[in-house]
Amino acid sequence: MSKLFRKKPLEAYREDIKTSQLNRTLGKWELTAISVGAVIGGGIFVLTGVAANQYAGPALALSFVLAGTGCLFAAFCYAEFASILPVSGSAYAYSYGTIGEFFAWFIGWNLILEYMMGATTVAVSWSTYFSKLLKLAGIPNLPAWLLNDPFTAREAALKAGTVPPLFSLNLPAALIVWVVTYILVRGIKESARTNNLIVSLKVAAVLFVVIAGVAYINTDNWQPFIPAKVVDSSGASHYGLSGVLTAAGIVFFAFIGFDAVSTQSQEAVNPTKDIPFAIIFSLIVCTTLYILVSLVLTGMTKYTDLDLGAPVASAFSSVGLAWASLLITIAAVIGLVSVMLVMLLSQTRIFLNMARDGLLPPKLFAAIHPNFKTPWKSTVLVGAIASLVAAVTPIEKATKMTSIGTLLAFAMICAAVLVLRKKQPDLHRPYKVKYLPLVAGLGLGFNILLMFSLDASTWVRLLVWSVAGIIIYFVYSVKHSNLNNK
Ligand code: ALA
Repeated sequence: MSKLFRKKPLEAYREDIKTSQLNRTLGKWELTAISVGAVIGGGIFVLTGVAANQYAGPALALSFVLAGTGCLFAAFCYAEFASILPVSGSAYAYSYGTIGEFFAWFIGWNLILEYMMGATTVAVSWSTYFSKLLKLAGIPNLPAWLLNDPFTAREAALKAGTVPPLFSLNLPAALIVWVVTYILVRGIKESARTNNLIVSLKVAAVLFVVIAGVAYINTDNWQPFIPAKVVDSSGASHYGLSGVLTAAGIVFFAFIGFDAVSTQSQEAVNPTKDIPFAIIFSLIVCTTLYILVSLVLTGMTKYTDLDLGAPVASAFSSVGLAWASLLITIAAVIGLVSVMLVMLLSQTRIFLNMARDGLLPPKLFAAIHPNFKTPWKSTVLVGAIASLVAAVTPIEKATKMTSIGTLLAFAMICAAVLVLRKKQPDLHRPYKVKYLPLVAGLGLGFNILLMFSLDASTWVRLLVWSVAGIIIYFVYSVKHSNLNNK
């Protein structure tokens, strides 16, 4: 039992930092760019369609406020955690040094849903914008059986009254993951440079949507702001206040990634100050942009007419601005790549930390390439899994799975920071949250509330995932932990 609560000693972290082969080159703005790069992606470019069309209507902006507020409370707690232990490894590493091994493992296990499953979801989103780009450019598209996962392909065929294909996969989604994997295996420097360029393009595109779209808002489209609740023939409910909440659970995905920057602590010049800054600042910027984009989007197009695949680009074509639609599509196609880059990068860094602590096999997860100096085996493995899952999983399932895992991790972080404050009040905290009991309590409450807005099948999958994680911990990790030798 005591093994479950053993903590990695702070000296071990200092040793990790000393022996880290990574250069400290990232300043406060680079870190903020990494964070924004991980945040703005499929959530705003794709999921806004289904969230407004099916659940929230024009009140999508409210859903963003709800989801953003939950994230902001969690972000404050994350920032305090990050300032105590400025090491890569994110919440996994922070909890290992402060709360205990089992808790840390469990957070790390859920972070797989955030990062690897998140990258998968973005790959599927990328595929919809890629198809749109081919269409706008007049290039013949791939056949439907190479553009859709088997479930979506079957559903579409049945709806159209045609015979479902025998075999189907989302080929662009699977291939883009391999492109990103290649960039990551080649090394962090290329990745950081590429990332900065892409982030600028993406933020410019979002600002463009807001500025160019304002003139096309028809305020009639905002009426009624919260459409009356409707229950469909399958018993699923849409709109009303509960719809706003469900949409918040879906667009929560749009905020995921602000914490990814914490996995870069060992490459930061001044991690104790700059990581908390990057986390909170990027989240505030993105929340503001999201609220504006959702108001513009639902103002330009009646929510019932919003496109489910590429809603932002389609809103512009629907008002006759085909050139704007093309620009946005290009920005999304390029911009979503940076999200995948950061997500997959973060995933491999967390695995690297877990493997160095002995909780995962080091030969696989901590093997560093002699020339590229990257954890190449783990990167290839993560890429292979993400690519396969992206090829066969419907976006809605992937999104919900990412969201529920991340929400659980965030809720656990809020609880952990609070417990740590009580247990070790004198620990040096370069960044200290004011009114922590209130902030952490609200963070816990919001994140759990959003978890409950997701459906029962997502909960069942989370349960299966958690049980698998617990089994691996007891079969492998607890026996191989480096702390066994201490
Ligand atoms: N927040 C990221 C996105 O929306 C994961 O793509």
